[in-house]
Amino acid sequence: MVETVDRPADPTDKSGATRRPRSISASDMRALIPDLGLIEYWYPALEDKKVKNKPVGVKICGVDLVFFRGGDGQVKCLWNVCPHRGGSLMHGDCHYKGTISCPYHGWTYDGDGNVLAVLPEGPDSQVPGKVKARAYPTQTHKGMVFVWMGEGEPAPIEEDVPPEFFDDITTVLYHTEYWPVQWNLALENGGDAHVPYVHRNSFRQLQNPMMWSSATGSRQKIVNGRAVVAIGGPPNRRRSSGGNDYQKYFPLLDARWPKHSYRLWWTWIWSLNRKRVAKLPPWDAPEEWASGHHLPGMYRGDHRTDLYTRNCIPVTEKLSRQIYYKAVRPKNWIGRVYERIFHRVYWRWAMYINFSSQDFKAVSPQRYDTPEHLSATDLHQVYWRRLVLQARGMKRPEEVEAIPRTEAEDLSFRYMADAEAYAESKQNGAATNGAATNGIATNGAATNGATSRTPSATS
Ligand code: FES
Ligand SMILES: [Fe+2]
Repeated sequence: MVETVDRPADPTDKSGATRRPRSISASDMRALIPDLGLIEYWYPALEDKKVKNKPVGVKICGVDLVFFRGGDGQVKCLWNVCPHRGGSLMHGDCHYKGTISCPYHGWTYDGDGNVLAVLPEGPDSQVPGKVKARAYPTQTHKGMVFVWMGEGEPAPIEEDVPPEFFDDITTVLYHTEYWPVQWNLALENGGDAHVPYVHRNSFRQLQNPMMWSSATGSRQKIVNGRAVVAIGGPPNRRRSSGGNDYQKYFPLLDARWPKHSYRLWWTWIWSLNRKRVAKLPPWDAPEEWASGHHLPGMYRGDHRTDLYTRNCIPVTEKLSRQIYYKAVRPKNWIGRVYERIFHRVYWRWAMYINFSSQDFKAVSPQRYDTPEHLSATDLHQVYWRRLVLQARGMKRPEEVEAIPRTEAEDLSFRYMADAEAYAESKQNGAATNGAATNGIATNGAATNGATSRTPSATS
């Protein structure tokens, strides 16, 4: 029986990770991941432009927050619970510049949470100056309001927010979706083998078919204790625009997949663009901010023309808010206008609705509390889960490293080693044939020590 600890939606609670009863062992990484997310982090809350002259409520990590404009014009954040008798501040008003008044007895707060007035008691009230509502630090960058959810001193925001928010050359465009799934379930939908399968009928698939993930998957590493990236770049998906390998034969099915190549009929329309994009260099970003997962809950993908980020923000145990960033670097104002229009009329539909709704259909009925059997291409998830466990406010890296590998994790490493050995033996077989002419000796199937490797704490 797994121990259960419910975390109330109270920001002063320090009980740590929430656990729900599950039919998996207590040492399974999934049982150790907090259902309401990681607290000691900066999170994107909402776009600055959404906060006008009314309070706006947003729930993050199970905590109800209220946002309003402070005296300096910047967006401020308080716990939504009025310290008087628990009134809901988001249902209140901003009668005076820089303040918010509770809808019940009119206690009126500034952006730091100080009580400035108790309106019905008049100016002689003894409360002002003596009571403070819980305030959450905020910072606004490129039109996005970030909030520090932690109990401790805020960490440097650059550790939790991507570098494109702090330069002068990148425009960041936003889109928000809600998924009724746990935040980490939404997040684990990245860096694995699902793309060529789940998205086979997406509009983007027509433009650029992505039909295969390598059976060996990719070796992974943790960077700076904050990100997981594939060693040597993101998963190797063979992109075919109509070559011989579009369909493959599966002996145990005695059939080919995909069943037909109709999807290729249309690809010629975008062939010029595909060639252009293929020549572009990778997005210029530090390694920890390149393709992969980043704490507290981002998955990033380098499209070369842009950098994609999905933030999976915990709302409740079973609801997450996806805030997408599209980072682009237009050269001039015409480019900036074009990118905004393109984002509004095409990209939001193609990427976040057409493409990502396919993710949602796969993820939403998924179980997260039953035994797993992980393949080589799930290794990214193995590393990500272990990284979550050593996030701020969780365990120390050495404690996480000391947690024995689960059977499922072992399988992922073993399948990878076997697939690598098989690939190498095939290659060596080919090389052996060649050896007759070039004199290079080969020794058949490869062995490697991969099965004994464990995720390391740092790169
Ligand atoms: S409950 Fe907020 S003013 Fe009374
Ligand atoms: Fe996907």
